[in-house]
Amino acid sequence: MCGIVGYVGKSQAAPVLLDGLAKLEYRGYDSAGMAVYDGNKIAFEKALGRLKVLSEKTHDGETMPGTIGIGHTRWATHGEPSEINSHPHLNESETIAVVHNGIIENYAKLKDKLISRGYSFKSQTDTEVVAHLLDYYYKGDPLEAITKVMHRVEGSYALGIIFAEHPDEIFAVRKDSPLIVGRGKDGNLIASDVPAVLKYTRNVYFIDNGEIAHLTEDAIDFFDVDGQPIEKESKTIEWDAEAASKGGYEYFMEKEIHEQPKTIRDTLSHHVKDGKVNIEGFNMSEDDMRQISRIRIVACGSAYHTGVTAKYIYEGMCRIPVECDLASEFRYRNPILDPNELVVIISQSGETADSKAALIYAKEQGIRTLAIVNVEGSSIARDADIVVLTYAGPEIAVATTKAYSAQLMTHYLLAISFGKALGKVSEEDEAKYIQSMRKLPEQIEMVLNNKERIQRFANRYVTAHDVYFIGRGVDYAISLEASLKLKEISYIHSEAYAAGELKHGTISLIEEGTLVGAVCTQKELLPKSISNIVEVKSRGAFVIAVTTVGNTEVEEVADYVMYIPETDQYFTNSLAIIPLQLFAYYVTLGKGFDVDKPRNLAKSVTVE
Ligand code: M6R
Repeated sequence: MCGIVGYVGKSQAAPVLLDGLAKLEYRGYDSAGMAVYDGNKIAFEKALGRLKVLSEKTHDGETMPGTIGIGHTRWATHGEPSEINSHPHLNESETIAVVHNGIIENYAKLKDKLISRGYSFKSQTDTEVVAHLLDYYYKGDPLEAITKVMHRVEGSYALGIIFAEHPDEIFAVRKDSPLIVGRGKDGNLIASDVPAVLKYTRNVYFIDNGEIAHLTEDAIDFFDVDGQPIEKESKTIEWDAEAASKGGYEYFMEKEIHEQPKTIRDTLSHHVKDGKVNIEGFNMSEDDMRQISRIRIVACGSAYHTGVTAKYIYEGMCRIPVECDLASEFRYRNPILDPNELVVIISQSGETADSKAALIYAKEQGIRTLAIVNVEGSSIARDADIVVLTYAGPEIAVATTKAYSAQLMTHYLLAISFGKALGKVSEEDEAKYIQSMRKLPEQIEMVLNNKERIQRFANRYVTAHDVYFIGRGVDYAISLEASLKLKEISYIHSEAYAAGELKHGTISLIEEGTLVGAVCTQKELLPKSISNIVEVKSRGAFVIAVTTVGNTEVEEVADYVMYIPETDQYFTNSLAIIPLQLFAYYVTLGKGFDVDKPRNLAKSVTVE
């Protein structure tokens, strides 16, 4: 995935573009580029590496005059990361410039055709095809050329386009890749995601598939794929500009870890009314809930991990059967779906290709879908039958933290609603659960106050080669997430196991000094978990345990214990994840890596 921005207005464009790209760098950061109309021609600059290389090259944009331009930050799909492959791509006479997020699937065929018509290509990208195709169709009317291109290209795209002959206009097009348009006071903007425009406006349009936006300094018009004008309504975004900045923290991940108490408070204030879960927030009646035969959770990565936690909760609290599927596996295994089941798709970005495809697949089978999504207006939010937004605000760091917490909270609240509808959760239970949830923000703050201790410990483990995480029940679910968090940012090899499973093979890898993270928050399972700790200890492991205050017996077996405050057995993951996120964060900081932008990763995976 990549990030695109565009600006037309009163200010110099290049600094605005760089600022927007900085907010989108989470979407890709192997190269970046900008094209601006400088009064005479389209001028462009590209740079391999992080955005700061482009900023330095252009003196923070100062060397690129002009008040209209487009920009791009890239995560390579077609063609290695290089200056030549980075965007913008231009036609041969450099009168049309294009930035693109997505994949042009039929680019090879189109490229052959264009070559046979005399076009020559500089890059290995699929995007360059669009620049030449626009050139081929352009006869003075940009809209006409764009609609013709849209009818020819297959795949997914969000495009930002400028024409030297129309120096006051930006065109933007969308199909299956996110695109928004922002109406600012001093100019208008396009972007792949809302944080890029928040500094200038909260008034945005979500562009739908097959739509074209046409922007000038003081007007925005929309057209369909045939070039016919259409009306669109703007939305006011609740997120503020501060939410998309580091706010004094060294990294977004650090800031987002610290925002988790707020995330939980915001989630509760949206879903709890007069001390009760407000079922209306889930757009389902109790009758609807009673008719559901099974919940099937489908997601990727950390979102999937919240699903694994949720399975224990829905089944334990509501006695409703739950299956958890990795979105990348779901539709290819010909799943047996029950017409009365509910498919729950979980996604922070709402743009993850596999999760999106799983949603479409379920809908095609006639199954009702509910999406738990953080990004309003995202593809998944638009396509699901029922949408439940999470209240994490913009999440910028590639490694998710606060969106993960918001997803957990949403599951708790949904589970209580299902439990009530199914007669498994009484009013007293509900009151008790809400009381526990209300304490979570303060309890997280207590854990965060202990972060220096975790940092000191993490600093000792920056050279670790392998880290295993083990747990039972919801503690297994949190182990999956702790392991992913550590490996994705610190590049330390890590795996997670259901604690009882370790001895079926993996325990042979434990040797003197191997680090094992044992999560043991579940009172009933504590003796079993302690046995598992003893098993790895006796093979030489160094064990760090995460457990609930009061479980002092853990100290007798583990080498290092991180305590979390006491909460309901179903909600422990919301607390146990905090020291584990901090551990991953500090290990990575200690290694000197860029915490927010781990190698090879992008914030949302829009390719299968
Ligand atoms: O945007 P989504 O929630 O659909 O993303 C799913 C995963 O790609 C995501 O959780 C990924 O695993 C993160 N890197 C985890 O930190």
